Amino acid sequence: MAMDETRKLLQRRASEYLFNHSRGVEKCACRLAQVYGVDKAKASLAGLLHDYGKIYPEKVLRQIALEQSLGDELIFREPKLLHAPVGAWLLRHELGIGDEDVLAAIRVHTTGAAGIPLLAKIVYLADYIEPGRVYPGVDELRRIAFKNLNQALLNALERTIKHVLEKKKVLHPDSIAFRNSLLLS
Ligand SMILES: [Fe+2]
Ligand SMILES: [Fe+2]
Repeated sequence: MAMDETRKLLQRRASEYLFNHSRGVEKCACRLAQVYGVDKAKASLAGLLHDYGKIYPEKVLRQIALEQSLGDELIFREPKLLHAPVGAWLLRHELGIGDEDVLAAIRVHTTGAAGIPLLAKIVYLADYIEPGRVYPGVDELRRIAFKNLNQALLNALERTIKHVLEKKKVLHPDSIAFRNSLLLS
């Protein structure tokens, strides 16, 4: 499917908010890809479709996760994490997207994981700093993002982990492994 066709499809099916966020991540991922020498087409596609799973109600996501054995127990219990692995599955089986790099980046975009490829790092970070995101320090993080990818990721990930702790939510071990791999790299 051509990129503009994919955008139109997403625009039809996503809320205005989700569509705008997805376009923001697409553009931001493309710019980061340019800087870090990653395939721009893959970064754009993965950015645009990273939240494809969010189009579906939680109930449907759980059903698919159960039937297809996607994610682990923690991901299954946390709807905010579930849309990533199920979204990747849906993209393959509904839209026929077969690019393993793109699907892998989408699969890990909520938790991160140890030693993830550059493309996945870029999508993770673009999700955090796309132009629609507003929080204290976002501009500084945007600056770091284009200078030192791992430092920006560590900053974004630690913010997320703090937020998860404050909300007394489950912290996925892959996020800890991701942080350690960034610290040790
Ligand atoms: Fe997401
Ligand atoms: Fe997102």
